[in-house]
Amino acid sequence: MPENDGFWNFYWEVALQPMENLGKREAVLAGSQLIRRIAQQTGRPVRVLEPGCGEGQIVGTLVSRHSQICDSKVVAGIDCNPRALTRCRSDFPGLQWVEGDFTDPALLSRLGEYDLVLLVNALHEVYSAVYSPELGQVDVPAAKCAVEDVLVEIIKRLAPGGWLLLFDGLEPPGDPAEPVQIRFLHEQARAHFEVFAAQYRPFRISYRETGSPNVVELSRRDFTRYIDKSIFLGKALWQTERLESYQYFREDEFRAAFAHCGLEISELRTLTVNAEKWRRTVEIVAPGVEFPEEHILIVARREQAPAGRPPRVLR
Ligand SMILES: C[S@@+](CC[C@H](N)C(=O)[O-])C[C@H]1O[C@@H](n2cnc3c(N)ncnc32)[C@H](O)[C@@H]1O
Repeated sequence: MPENDGFWNFYWEVALQPMENLGKREAVLAGSQLIRRIAQQTGRPVRVLEPGCGEGQIVGTLVSRHSQICDSKVVAGIDCNPRALTRCRSDFPGLQWVEGDFTDPALLSRLGEYDLVLLVNALHEVYSAVYSPELGQVDVPAAKCAVEDVLVEIIKRLAPGGWLLLFDGLEPPGDPAEPVQIRFLHEQARAHFEVFAAQYRPFRISYRETGSPNVVELSRRDFTRYIDKSIFLGKALWQTERLESYQYFREDEFRAAFAHCGLEISELRTLTVNAEKWRRTVEIVAPGVEFPEEHILIVARREQAPAGRPPRVLR
Protein backbone atom coordinates (compact mmCIF):
# COMPACT_ATOMS: atom_id res chain seq x y z
CA MET A 1 0.00 0.00 0.00
CA PRO A 2 1.43 3.45 -0.85
CA GLU A 3 2.10 5.38 2.33
CA ASN A 4 0.64 8.68 1.12
CA ASP A 5 -1.13 11.33 3.22
CA GLY A 6 -4.47 9.49 2.91
CA PHE A 7 -2.85 6.36 4.35
CA TRP A 8 -1.37 8.28 7.29
CA ASN A 9 -4.55 10.22 8.02
CA PHE A 10 -6.42 6.92 8.32
CA TYR A 11 -3.58 5.24 10.21
CA TRP A 12 -3.39 7.93 12.92
CA GLU A 13 -7.16 8.19 13.21
CA VAL A 14 -7.23 4.54 14.25
CA ALA A 15 -3.91 4.41 16.15
CA LEU A 16 -4.54 7.49 18.28
CA GLN A 17 -8.06 6.65 19.38
CA PRO A 18 -6.94 5.20 22.73
CA MET A 19 -4.82 8.29 23.44
CA GLU A 20 -7.28 9.97 25.75
CA ASN A 21 -5.20 13.11 26.15
CA LEU A 22 -6.22 15.03 23.04
CA GLY A 23 -3.20 17.27 23.33
CA LYS A 24 -0.85 14.41 22.66
CA ARG A 25 -3.00 13.42 19.68
CA GLU A 26 -2.49 16.87 18.15
CA ALA A 27 1.26 16.71 18.78
CA VAL A 28 1.64 13.26 17.21
CA LEU A 29 -0.41 14.22 14.15
CA ALA A 30 1.59 17.42 13.58
CA GLY A 31 4.86 15.51 14.14
CA SER A 32 3.91 12.83 11.61
CA GLN A 33 3.12 15.44 8.96
CA LEU A 34 6.42 17.22 9.61
CA ILE A 35 8.52 14.05 9.43
CA ARG A 36 7.02 13.12 6.05
CA ARG A 37 7.50 16.66 4.76
CA ILE A 38 11.15 16.82 5.91
CA ALA A 39 11.93 13.39 4.41
CA GLN A 40 10.47 14.51 1.09
CA GLN A 41 12.40 17.80 1.15
CA THR A 42 15.79 16.42 2.18
CA GLY A 43 15.66 12.93 0.66
CA ARG A 44 17.53 11.43 3.65
CA PRO A 45 16.53 9.83 6.99
CA VAL A 46 15.02 12.37 9.38
CA ARG A 47 16.81 12.89 12.71
CA VAL A 48 14.26 13.49 15.48
CA LEU A 49 14.94 14.48 19.11
CA GLU A 50 12.56 14.92 22.05
CA PRO A 51 14.02 16.51 25.20
CA GLY A 52 11.72 15.55 28.10
CA CYS A 53 10.45 12.47 26.24
CA GLY A 54 8.84 10.81 29.28
CA GLU A 55 7.81 7.27 28.35
CA GLY A 56 8.33 7.93 24.65
CA GLN A 57 4.65 8.21 23.76
CA ILE A 58 5.42 10.98 21.28
CA VAL A 59 8.88 10.47 19.81
CA GLY A 60 8.84 6.67 20.21
CA THR A 61 5.52 6.39 18.44
CA LEU A 62 6.55 8.76 15.65
CA VAL A 63 10.01 7.38 14.90
CA SER A 64 8.98 3.74 15.14
CA ARG A 65 5.92 4.28 12.88
CA HIS A 66 8.09 6.17 10.37
CA SER A 67 11.10 3.85 10.70
CA GLN A 68 11.69 3.81 6.94
CA ILE A 69 12.20 7.56 6.77
CA CYS A 70 13.72 8.25 10.22
CA ASP A 71 17.27 7.79 11.47
CA SER A 72 17.02 5.39 14.43
CA LYS A 73 20.76 5.54 15.16
CA VAL A 74 20.65 9.05 16.66
CA VAL A 75 19.42 9.74 20.21
CA ALA A 76 15.63 10.03 20.05
CA GLY A 77 14.80 11.09 23.60
CA ILE A 78 16.29 12.60 26.75
CA ASP A 79 14.69 12.36 30.15
CA CYS A 80 15.87 12.68 33.74
CA ASN A 81 13.44 10.04 35.02
CA PRO A 82 15.07 6.57 34.89
CA ARG A 83 11.73 4.75 35.24
CA ALA A 84 10.35 6.60 32.21
CA LEU A 85 13.46 5.60 30.22
CA THR A 86 13.08 1.94 31.23
CA ARG A 87 9.63 2.11 29.66
CA CYS A 88 11.04 3.79 26.51
CA ARG A 89 13.64 1.04 26.14
CA SER A 90 11.09 -1.71 26.56
CA ASP A 91 8.40 -0.18 24.29
CA PHE A 92 10.79 1.13 21.60
CA PRO A 93 13.87 -1.13 21.77
CA GLY A 94 15.36 -0.06 18.42
CA LEU A 95 15.75 3.60 19.46
CA GLN A 96 18.46 5.44 21.42
CA TRP A 97 17.62 7.06 24.78
CA VAL A 98 19.71 9.23 27.10
CA GLU A 99 19.19 9.74 30.82
CA GLY A 100 20.05 13.31 31.81
CA ASP A 101 19.07 16.92 32.20
CA PHE A 102 18.02 18.59 28.95
CA THR A 103 18.74 22.01 30.45
CA ASP A 104 22.44 21.06 30.61
CA PRO A 105 24.24 22.69 27.62
CA ALA A 106 27.14 20.19 27.95
CA LEU A 107 24.76 17.24 27.52
CA LEU A 108 23.05 18.89 24.55
CA SER A 109 26.37 19.75 22.89
CA ARG A 110 27.32 16.04 22.86
CA LEU A 111 24.35 15.32 20.58
CA GLY A 112 24.57 15.84 16.85
CA GLU A 113 22.36 17.94 14.58
CA TYR A 114 18.66 17.26 14.18
CA ASP A 115 16.07 17.93 11.49
CA LEU A 116 13.18 18.00 13.96
CA VAL A 117 13.03 18.72 17.68
CA LEU A 118 9.85 17.99 19.62
CA LEU A 119 9.08 19.89 22.83
CA VAL A 120 5.87 18.35 24.09
CA ASN A 121 4.74 19.29 27.58
CA ALA A 122 8.37 19.78 28.60
CA LEU A 123 9.13 23.50 29.05
CA HIS A 124 6.44 24.08 31.67
CA GLU A 125 8.51 21.78 33.90
CA VAL A 126 11.56 24.06 33.46
CA TYR A 127 9.40 27.04 34.46
CA SER A 128 7.89 25.26 37.48
CA ALA A 129 11.32 24.19 38.73
CA VAL A 130 12.22 27.85 39.39
CA TYR A 131 10.23 27.86 42.60
CA SER A 132 11.36 30.27 45.31
CA PRO A 133 10.70 29.18 48.92
CA GLU A 134 11.29 32.81 50.00
CA LEU A 135 8.58 34.08 47.68
CA GLY A 136 6.38 31.06 48.31
CA GLN A 137 5.76 30.79 44.56
CA VAL A 138 7.51 30.49 41.21
CA ASP A 139 9.97 33.33 40.68
CA VAL A 140 8.19 34.43 37.52
CA PRO A 141 10.85 36.65 35.82
CA ALA A 142 13.63 34.13 36.57
CA ALA A 143 11.45 31.20 35.46
CA LYS A 144 10.59 32.87 32.14
CA CYS A 145 14.29 33.57 31.52
CA ALA A 146 15.09 29.92 32.34
CA VAL A 147 12.60 28.74 29.72
CA GLU A 148 14.03 31.10 27.12
CA ASP A 149 17.62 30.08 27.93
CA VAL A 150 16.79 26.38 27.51
CA LEU A 151 15.03 27.11 24.24
CA VAL A 152 18.14 28.90 22.94
CA GLU A 153 20.34 25.88 23.81
CA ILE A 154 17.95 23.33 22.37
CA ILE A 155 17.61 25.25 19.12
CA LYS A 156 21.39 24.95 18.64
CA ARG A 157 20.75 21.21 18.04
CA LEU A 158 18.66 22.05 14.97
CA ALA A 159 20.35 21.94 11.60
CA PRO A 160 19.90 25.23 9.69
CA GLY A 161 16.42 25.00 8.19
CA GLY A 162 15.45 22.35 10.80
CA TRP A 163 12.04 22.29 12.47
CA LEU A 164 10.71 22.69 16.01
CA LEU A 165 7.32 21.39 17.13
CA LEU A 166 6.19 22.73 20.50
CA PHE A 167 3.06 21.67 22.33
CA ASP A 168 2.51 22.95 25.87
CA GLY A 169 0.40 25.10 28.18
CA LEU A 170 -0.65 28.65 27.31
CA GLU A 171 -1.28 31.60 29.62
CA PRO A 172 -4.55 33.17 28.41
CA PRO A 173 -4.46 36.82 27.27
CA GLY A 174 -5.87 39.65 29.35
CA ASP A 175 -5.53 40.69 32.96
CA PRO A 176 -4.56 37.68 35.10
CA ALA A 177 -5.94 39.45 38.21
CA GLU A 178 -9.43 39.86 36.72
CA PRO A 179 -11.97 38.15 39.05
CA VAL A 180 -13.98 35.16 37.81
CA GLN A 181 -16.93 33.64 39.69
CA ILE A 182 -17.46 29.90 39.41
CA ARG A 183 -20.07 27.45 40.70
CA PHE A 184 -19.09 23.92 41.70
CA LEU A 185 -21.48 21.42 40.17
CA HIS A 186 -21.28 18.85 42.96
CA GLU A 187 -19.92 18.48 46.47
CA GLN A 188 -16.90 16.48 45.38
CA ALA A 189 -15.90 19.29 42.99
CA ARG A 190 -15.97 21.76 45.87
CA ALA A 191 -13.94 19.39 48.10
CA HIS A 192 -11.38 18.89 45.31
CA PHE A 193 -11.10 22.65 44.79
CA GLU A 194 -10.23 23.10 48.45
CA VAL A 195 -7.49 20.47 48.15
CA PHE A 196 -6.25 22.27 45.02
CA ALA A 197 -6.19 25.66 46.77
CA ALA A 198 -4.36 24.26 49.81
CA GLN A 199 -1.81 22.06 48.01
CA TYR A 200 -1.03 23.70 44.63
CA ARG A 201 2.55 24.87 44.98
CA PRO A 202 3.57 27.15 42.06
CA PHE A 203 1.30 30.04 43.19
CA ARG A 204 -0.71 30.82 46.32
CA ILE A 205 -4.35 30.34 45.43
CA SER A 206 -6.72 32.77 47.06
CA TYR A 207 -10.50 32.90 46.69
CA ARG A 208 -13.49 34.39 48.44
CA GLU A 209 -16.98 33.17 49.15
CA THR A 210 -19.67 35.14 47.30
CA GLY A 211 -22.64 34.40 49.55
CA SER A 212 -24.25 32.13 46.91
CA PRO A 213 -24.03 28.43 47.74
CA ASN A 214 -21.07 26.78 46.04
CA VAL A 215 -20.02 29.96 44.20
CA VAL A 216 -16.54 31.38 44.79
CA GLU A 217 -14.54 34.19 43.21
CA LEU A 218 -10.89 33.84 42.22
CA SER A 219 -8.48 35.45 39.80
CA ARG A 220 -8.39 34.43 36.16
CA ARG A 221 -4.79 33.25 36.66
CA ASP A 222 -5.81 30.90 39.46
CA PHE A 223 -8.97 29.79 37.65
CA THR A 224 -6.94 28.68 34.62
CA ARG A 225 -4.65 26.65 36.87
CA TYR A 226 -7.55 25.12 38.79
CA ILE A 227 -9.44 23.88 35.75
CA ASP A 228 -6.22 22.54 34.22
CA LYS A 229 -5.45 20.60 37.38
CA SER A 230 -9.04 19.62 38.22
CA ILE A 231 -8.75 16.50 36.06
CA PHE A 232 -5.92 15.19 38.30
CA LEU A 233 -7.52 15.93 41.66
CA GLY A 234 -8.16 12.76 43.64
CA LYS A 235 -5.73 10.76 41.44
CA ALA A 236 -2.19 9.55 42.16
CA LEU A 237 -0.80 11.96 39.52
CA TRP A 238 -1.91 14.93 41.62
CA GLN A 239 1.22 14.53 43.76
CA THR A 240 3.39 15.61 40.82
CA GLU A 241 0.83 17.76 39.02
CA ARG A 242 0.37 19.97 42.10
CA LEU A 243 4.02 21.07 41.73
CA GLU A 244 3.69 22.27 38.14
CA SER A 245 2.25 25.35 36.51
CA TYR A 246 1.18 24.23 33.05
CA GLN A 247 1.04 27.88 31.94
CA TYR A 248 4.16 30.02 31.56
CA PHE A 249 4.03 32.17 28.39
CA ARG A 250 1.20 34.07 26.74
CA GLU A 251 0.98 33.80 22.95
CA ASP A 252 2.87 37.08 22.46
CA GLU A 253 5.65 35.82 24.76
CA PHE A 254 5.97 32.59 22.77
CA ARG A 255 6.24 34.66 19.58
CA ALA A 256 8.91 36.92 21.09
CA ALA A 257 10.93 34.00 22.50
CA PHE A 258 10.84 32.18 19.16
CA ALA A 259 11.97 35.33 17.31
CA HIS A 260 14.80 35.72 19.82
CA CYS A 261 15.96 32.16 19.05
CA GLY A 262 15.93 32.72 15.28
CA LEU A 263 12.80 30.61 14.76
CA GLU A 264 10.26 31.50 12.10
CA ILE A 265 6.74 30.35 13.04
CA SER A 266 4.88 28.62 10.23
CA GLU A 267 1.86 27.41 12.23
CA LEU A 268 0.42 28.49 15.58
CA ARG A 269 -2.79 27.09 17.05
CA THR A 270 -4.35 27.59 20.47
CA LEU A 271 -6.60 24.84 21.79
CA THR A 272 -8.92 23.89 24.62
CA VAL A 273 -8.57 20.16 25.00
CA ASN A 274 -10.34 19.19 28.21
CA ALA A 275 -13.40 21.46 28.20
CA GLU A 276 -15.86 18.53 28.38
CA LYS A 277 -14.23 17.29 31.59
CA TRP A 278 -14.18 20.78 33.11
CA ARG A 279 -17.87 21.33 32.33
CA ARG A 280 -18.72 18.29 34.44
CA THR A 281 -16.95 19.96 37.40
CA VAL A 282 -17.61 23.67 37.30
CA GLU A 283 -19.76 26.35 35.71
CA ILE A 284 -18.57 29.91 35.00
CA VAL A 285 -21.12 32.26 36.52
CA ALA A 286 -20.21 35.47 34.65
CA PRO A 287 -22.05 35.63 31.30
CA GLY A 288 -19.79 35.72 28.25
CA VAL A 289 -16.72 34.30 30.03
CA GLU A 290 -15.51 31.11 28.37
CA PHE A 291 -13.12 28.36 29.43
CA PRO A 292 -9.67 29.49 28.31
CA GLU A 293 -7.67 28.14 25.43
CA GLU A 294 -4.83 26.79 27.53
CA HIS A 295 -2.76 24.75 25.08
CA ILE A 296 -0.58 25.98 22.26
CA LEU A 297 0.86 24.13 19.27
CA ILE A 298 3.62 25.86 17.32
CA VAL A 299 5.51 24.64 14.26
CA ALA A 300 8.58 26.76 13.52
CA ARG A 301 11.69 26.60 11.39
CA ARG A 302 15.21 27.59 12.25
CA GLU A 303 16.57 30.28 9.94
CA GLN A 304 18.90 28.91 7.27
CA ALA A 305 21.55 31.48 8.18
CA PRO A 306 20.97 33.05 11.60
CA ALA A 307 20.56 36.82 11.15
CA GLY A 308 20.61 39.59 13.78
CA ARG A 309 18.21 38.52 16.51
CA PRO A 310 15.68 40.58 18.42
CA PRO A 311 16.84 40.93 22.05
CA ARG A 312 15.59 38.52 24.70
CA VAL A 313 12.13 39.20 26.02
CA LEU A 314 12.39 41.65 28.92
CA ARG A 315 9.92 40.94 31.66
C1 LIG B 1 4.87 16.04 31.27
S1 LIG B 1 6.13 14.90 30.85
C2 LIG B 1 5.95 14.86 29.09
C3 LIG B 1 6.55 13.63 28.48
C4 LIG B 1 6.44 13.53 26.95
N1 LIG B 1 6.99 14.67 26.28
C5 LIG B 1 4.99 13.33 26.55
O1 LIG B 1 4.31 14.31 26.23
O2 LIG B 1 4.55 12.19 26.58
C6 LIG B 1 7.61 15.86 31.05
C7 LIG B 1 8.84 15.00 31.09
O3 LIG B 1 9.97 15.87 31.12
C8 LIG B 1 10.93 15.32 32.01
N2 LIG B 1 11.79 16.43 32.46
C9 LIG B 1 11.42 17.56 33.11
N3 LIG B 1 12.48 18.37 33.29
C10 LIG B 1 13.55 17.73 32.75
C11 LIG B 1 14.92 18.05 32.62
N4 LIG B 1 15.41 19.22 33.06
N5 LIG B 1 15.73 17.17 31.99
C12 LIG B 1 15.24 16.00 31.53
N6 LIG B 1 13.96 15.64 31.61
C13 LIG B 1 13.11 16.49 32.22
C14 LIG B 1 10.13 14.67 33.10
O4 LIG B 1 10.86 13.66 33.76
C15 LIG B 1 8.94 14.12 32.32
O5 LIG B 1 9.15 12.79 31.91
